[in-house]
Amino acid sequence: MERINVGLVGYGVVGNGVAQILEEKKDLLRKKSGVEINLKKVYTRNWNKNFQYPLSEDKKAYSLEEILNDEDISIVIELTGGIDFPYKLLSEAIKRKKHIVTANKALLAEKGKEIFLLAEKYGVRIGFEASVAGGIPIIRSLREGLVANEIQKIYGILNGTTNYILTNMYKYGKDFKTALKEAQELGYAEADPTLDINGTDAAHKIAILASLSYGGFLDFNQVYVEGIQNIDPLDIDLGKELGYILKLLAIAKGHNGEAEVRVHPTFIPEENPLSKVDGVFNAVMVEGDSVGETMFYGKGAGSLPTASAVVSDIVDISKSVIRGIGNEIELTSMNWEHKDLSLTRVSDFFTRYYIRFTVPDITGILAKVAEVFAKYSISIAAVIQKEKVLSYYKNSTSEKIVPLVILTHTASENNVQKAIEEIESKGITVGKSVIIRVEDEEK
Ligand code: HSE
Repeated sequence: MERINVGLVGYGVVGNGVAQILEEKKDLLRKKSGVEINLKKVYTRNWNKNFQYPLSEDKKAYSLEEILNDEDISIVIELTGGIDFPYKLLSEAIKRKKHIVTANKALLAEKGKEIFLLAEKYGVRIGFEASVAGGIPIIRSLREGLVANEIQKIYGILNGTTNYILTNMYKYGKDFKTALKEAQELGYAEADPTLDINGTDAAHKIAILASLSYGGFLDFNQVYVEGIQNIDPLDIDLGKELGYILKLLAIAKGHNGEAEVRVHPTFIPEENPLSKVDGVFNAVMVEGDSVGETMFYGKGAGSLPTASAVVSDIVDISKSVIRGIGNEIELTSMNWEHKDLSLTRVSDFFTRYYIRFTVPDITGILAKVAEVFAKYSISIAAVIQKEKVLSYYKNSTSEKIVPLVILTHTASENNVQKAIEEIESKGITVGKSVIIRVEDEEK
């Protein structure tokens, strides 16, 4: 039985889960994989804290060098967070020919190209199953289970915090601030939940999935990202009337050698299985040309679910260390097409739109809006106008301001933006219009 020594850097929630699994499930892992995995050293900046899974003194490292300089350690597990520190750490570890396991989606989405190319150069592997959707084995499924497929589309709910908030807004009519506060009180949202609610966390994850699906590195700054911070419960209710549920979707589609990668609040039909994914759960739909539609569901965060993914990488890399790493490096990078991916520009998106105008309830408004839509070849699929008064026009009590919602058929983003700009500039509406994209493909 071969033994593989691993070193862990970062001893937070996930790190504790990894240690617990490696220690308590040693036998199971050995029986299932034929490898004995030994957690040799763990480094964290401060050992003077209470840990969920306390370690014996012999496993504690008090400097990074204890791990980096240990020639018996062949895999370094990075569970720190942020970008700059882990980037330096991983670069150092790779140069010392240590294989890497990381859960760091920000690092891989923003500096993946540098890290993967360095790893190829030094002949080491990088495992990153835990970087997307926690315990759901989506990376390995794309790479292995779905290898026979051209991925047409991959989309899903990749952030538990925002899904918890939107579920609460939808089910219990809460507003954004109240739902966020509750998520924080329950420990679901970070003390600083900015990257979750502004969509960045989901964007990091879909950038990784897009790279893997379409085989190239991408420029993260070109991914279109919109968060949920401005969602008004009124739109959740109006969407419901149209048969839609609001989710923060992360979407990647491949077409004509390009990838369209975007994250934004999205209406999906009630019949779409993703609409039933509530609370902190994650789910990913993958459409492949051979397999058709597949769905992956599970916990996207948390100590043991995320650790389950980290350990799967440790086992996988350990097995290939024992077999001889050989050509596996290149094949396990995300860059299997050996190229940089071109991303579709936002203005070139085609999708359906829910647009809420705020209009005075007077004769001819709908006709004027429809005229501009026709000018830009935007076909209207449904209209809702409510008598519900949002406010009164210029303090008058006779001119009511009401919501006017238009659901479009598939239209060009460029045309939709131009039409809205024209409608607003002509003074047909009062106040800013709300645009929510709809993922409801028309056959
Ligand atoms: N903060 C993330 C979420 C989990 O809310 O889903 C870690 O990626």
